Amino acid sequence: MRGGALLLLALSAAFVLSGCEREARRFTTPAQNSTGSETGQRASSNQPGAPLRGGVEQPLRNISPFERNAFAVNQGKRLYRWYNCNGCHASGGGNIGPPLMDAQWRYGSDPASIFATIMQGRPQGMPSFGGHIPEDQAWQIVAYVQSMSGQLRKDVAPSRSDSISTNQPENARPKLQPQPEQPPAPTPPGAR
Ligand code: HEC
Repeated sequence: MRGGALLLLALSAAFVLSGCEREARRFTTPAQNSTGSETGQRASSNQPGAPLRGGVEQPLRNISPFERNAFAVNQGKRLYRWYNCNGCHASGGGNIGPPLMDAQWRYGSDPASIFATIMQGRPQGMPSFGGHIPEDQAWQIVAYVQSMSGQLRKDVAPSRSDSISTNQPENARPKLQPQPEQPPAPTPPGAR
């Protein structure tokens, strides 16, 4: 009897511990940067809002703090529209910017690389958002970008869109194996 009660207690504790990360609504983000120093150089002169000089902070650990947190991933999905990422990347299929829902990555699919892409920008037209958006919002967007190519757990990825969308919901997408983008084929001589 006593053993049964203990087992029940252990099981419910395990359930609570495994479930809470998905459901948690944090008021503070676990710190990724321990120093206030600027360590990364901006890779884009294209910045939303007023121009900023100097570098931007880079995370010390390559961990996506929200990749198990459904609430934060959905916040990332909302911010993706609020900061006009969809203006250049559409709903993930790409437009001016490359697609984000495919397996091809120019600058890396790991959390620190996606964070660097957003905060430092990239030279061929990806704006630098560092200093323009709070770091915890950037991490929410990182988690959402991870979900676009099926990298997050299905019970964490968003299951619906608030606006008209022709895409499959993120939690219904197959997990893609990230790989470096193929360079464009050379233009044949004489072609314009
Ligand atoms: C003004 C257009 C524009 C906006 C706005 C924009 N991007 Fe981009 N993005 C680009 C372009 C262009 C590239 C490719 C840059 C390059 O190749 O150097 C890119 C690259 C990226 C990449 C790298 C993809 C890879 O294959 O490695 C990610 C991730 C990304 N953007 C996410 C975002 C997110 C998230 C936002 C919103 C916070 C955003 N972008 C806003 C144009 C844009």
